Amino acid sequence: MKRLLSLLLLCLLLLSLAPAALADGDPEPAKLVAVTFDDGPGPYTSRLLDGLEDRGAKVTFFMLGSCAERYREIVERAYLEGHQIASHTYSHTLLTKLSAAGIKDEISSTAAVLDAATGTSGRYYLRPPYGGYNSTVLSLAGAPVIYWSVDTLDWKYRNADTVYRNILDAAHDGSIVLLHDIHATSVDGALRAIDTLIDRGYELVTVSELLRRKGVSPEEGVVYFNCREATQLPPVSAPVIAADPVIGGVKISMKADPGAAILYTTDGQDPLYHGTAYREAFTLASSCTVRAIAAFDLNGGRSAEASLDVAVSRAPAPEFILNGGLVLAAGKEVMRYTTDGSDPSADSPFLDAPLELPRGAELRAASFAPGYTVSPTALLTCTPAGHFLTDVRLSDWFTGAVDAVLSRGLMEADAQLRFRPGDAVTRAEAVDILYRLAGRPEPPLADWPLFSDTDNTPALLWACGSGVAAGCGDGAFRPGDPLTREQFATLYYGFLRASGAALPEPSAFTFSDVGDIDEYALVPLGTMVALGVLHGDPDGALAPLSPLTRAQLAAILSQLPGSAEQP
Ligand code: NI
Repeated sequence: MKRLLSLLLLCLLLLSLAPAALADGDPEPAKLVAVTFDDGPGPYTSRLLDGLEDRGAKVTFFMLGSCAERYREIVERAYLEGHQIASHTYSHTLLTKLSAAGIKDEISSTAAVLDAATGTSGRYYLRPPYGGYNSTVLSLAGAPVIYWSVDTLDWKYRNADTVYRNILDAAHDGSIVLLHDIHATSVDGALRAIDTLIDRGYELVTVSELLRRKGVSPEEGVVYFNCREATQLPPVSAPVIAADPVIGGVKISMKADPGAAILYTTDGQDPLYHGTAYREAFTLASSCTVRAIAAFDLNGGRSAEASLDVAVSRAPAPEFILNGGLVLAAGKEVMRYTTDGSDPSADSPFLDAPLELPRGAELRAASFAPGYTVSPTALLTCTPAGHFLTDVRLSDWFTGAVDAVLSRGLMEADAQLRFRPGDAVTRAEAVDILYRLAGRPEPPLADWPLFSDTDNTPALLWACGSGVAAGCGDGAFRPGDPLTREQFATLYYGFLRASGAALPEPSAFTFSDVGDIDEYALVPLGTMVALGVLHGDPDGALAPLSPLTRAQLAAILSQLPGSAEQP
């Protein structure tokens, strides 16, 4: 259906535009001849199509609806290969003997068969059988009526040599040659004659193309015998596809000969079948291949295909550079920003000068580089305590806790200013953080490895030496493993005991998942609950085996009273 609409649009464009003449000084134009075949398609038509393809010649087929029905794939092939599909009525009846209704039926039933085979809704030039027409036939034709200027009498002689001679003896610039592709001798003679015509400087074109290039605007119900006009227009050129980088992607614009319409696709499909009529430039936001053809008449006068591979990728997210309290930006000439919580748009200002981001403010920036789609938005938050972070928003529930642990030096952001609030705390991180909480005391020395899978660190030496960590010397420490909530409880319980803190009695458990708790963690977890350090979730579960996130640990640490001074 889409294709049908495109074709209708194309027809409207074609009707509204007149062809342009050759400019002075152009080389001598080719002589044009339109070879036509009646009464098919038949058993020899595909051999004829092979021969025409080899020679780059285009012809016109005046098909019988009854034969087109039988050789539907031949009709489709001829159309796809750029030949003109035309009508010779359905049953080869002398139209002048029929009623108006009978004439209409012969024409419309043939058009229906041809439409079905070509997948179009075409206007098919008419050649009445036996050349028989009268005013009724012309008034009902609904298309130009095509006679001929060279009659080869191929049906009578059935001799390839005679067909060859008869074509060459009579062909002239602008002639329309009558043949029948239901005879093998006609196919053979015609292909040989086409070779000679090409040698003699002729171009083999469809009837539609012959008329256009001779400057004739064909009219419905008018009979054309040949085109002796002196005008000669060039063949339709392939469209020119231009790609210009713009914000958001690549702008595609196309040009064709004046009066020619363009059909294009951007999904890799054939523009003849799936094309959209080109009206104005458009922007592509992803990589694709643009394919396009130009045509004055899709049924018998289209250009070679043009195609262009267009690469569009997403611009990388901006990177911020901090210089003292000032924010600088890489790629500043294309980076736009906001500080009001909205996402940057093409109207936002450029981040082209150092920016002083106040505490308690968020900077959002995106790259609007031409030729790319807009980058993801990058965030830089200056927290109320003055920490710069790229993955914490002021509205996050843990922002205050993160501020507190950063200010106290208990936890850190990485070089990209990420706090990674949603990441699990690893076992190595947990020991490091407790070591900081203890005030980084001088650790005991050990000249043997404490664990098989990690080097001795001051934090590990301290944790093992002070009894904060149990199980030292048992083999693996698994430093990169996520720390579960019960493991945290056990470590922190050890930390409090080692620091000599007075501990409350462990709480009695009322949680729904008590059965998940490992036995070694029962007392530490109960103590944490009694201290208010860990809570059950709203569903009544303590989740002892769930990993502790960095945001959750920051929240716990930020609530510990004066712990930086301990022990
Ligand atoms: Ni005929």
